[in-house]
Amino acid sequence: MKFKTLTEFIIEKQAEYPQASGNLTRLLNDIGIAAKFVNREVNRAGLGEVMGYVGEVNVQGEEQKKLDVYANNQFISALRSGGECCAIGSEENEEIIIFDNESSKYGKYVVAMDPLDGSSNIESNVSIGTLFSIYLRRTVRGTAKMEDFLQPGRNLVAAGYVLYGSSTVLVYSTGNGVNGFTLDPSVGLFILSHPDMKYPETGNIYSINEASYNYFPEGVKQYIHYCQEDEPATGRPYSTRYIGSMVADIHRNLIRGGIFIYPGTTKSKTGKLRLLYECNPVAFLAEQAGGKASDGFKRILDIEPTALHQRAPIFVGPSAMVEKAEEFMQAHSPEFKPEH
Ligand code: AHG
Ligand code: MN
Ligand code: MN
Repeated sequence: MKFKTLTEFIIEKQAEYPQASGNLTRLLNDIGIAAKFVNREVNRAGLGEVMGYVGEVNVQGEEQKKLDVYANNQFISALRSGGECCAIGSEENEEIIIFDNESSKYGKYVVAMDPLDGSSNIESNVSIGTLFSIYLRRTVRGTAKMEDFLQPGRNLVAAGYVLYGSSTVLVYSTGNGVNGFTLDPSVGLFILSHPDMKYPETGNIYSINEASYNYFPEGVKQYIHYCQEDEPATGRPYSTRYIGSMVADIHRNLIRGGIFIYPGTTKSKTGKLRLLYECNPVAFLAEQAGGKASDGFKRILDIEPTALHQRAPIFVGPSAMVEKAEEFMQAHSPEFKPEH
């Protein structure tokens, strides 16, 4: 059988850019290697010593699970020893982690990441993921600074996710389409399985945590009603699918056609999901797959970040579905328009 591995694929892509130095290739490869280690632990999650809490609370005030910490350490150490990246911003660390040893001092890239997304699902053996955003640093020399991270998503050099699901999949883009690789556990290789992923034109799935309905903007409430209306010609009523692990919800919706929404609410105007390492990577992939990602009013990738852990509302999916949801937001919830 003829197959292409992740490593072969990224080296081949590098050859298309004669000016490329190979740093991004190595960085992506390091992420793939760290993902395999995390995958091994995730697969053993039912076995006592891997599961449970470490007794610490992270920057978001959430209790850290052992696997959150394991995944965080694994990605940090892979990227530190790789040397292509000069700093990491992680959901699990309040401050950026600066690599200031000689070999990595001049790494060109910074990586923002959610090492384990959906970690509340670990106990119940439901899919979880990793999200990453790669930027070229803004500062020219010396150790990395916060400003290297505070870049809008449109500056992304690459982004992607790993989904630890019924199979483990790594999906990434360097701004030239989206490709997905499935881990063959018997040989420990990611194999190209989803070349040039594109959203279907439209879809009939909507993914939102409807238990928060009472706190939703009127525009979201109206959009949910729209999704539930009986109009067979437009595929409605749609189906609700919500795993509670964004990576898994996004992956299914990318393949099947569906909109994922985590809106601002009357309790938290900017919603829950973090701009730099949850919304931006997903928005970058969505656009590369022919879809759209918006905060209800504006393109996610155009938001100018002001803080590492800032949150943003997100509506992401096939363009037609996102545009419809934006229409409802703009008509019914102008007060939710973010001030940026
Ligand atoms: P994390 O585990 O990194 O904190 O993120 C969980 C996120 C995301 O994966 C998911 O879509 C969302 O939280 C679910 O939130 P609700 O329980 O509020 O729906
Ligand atoms: Mn998350
Ligand atoms: Mn997380």
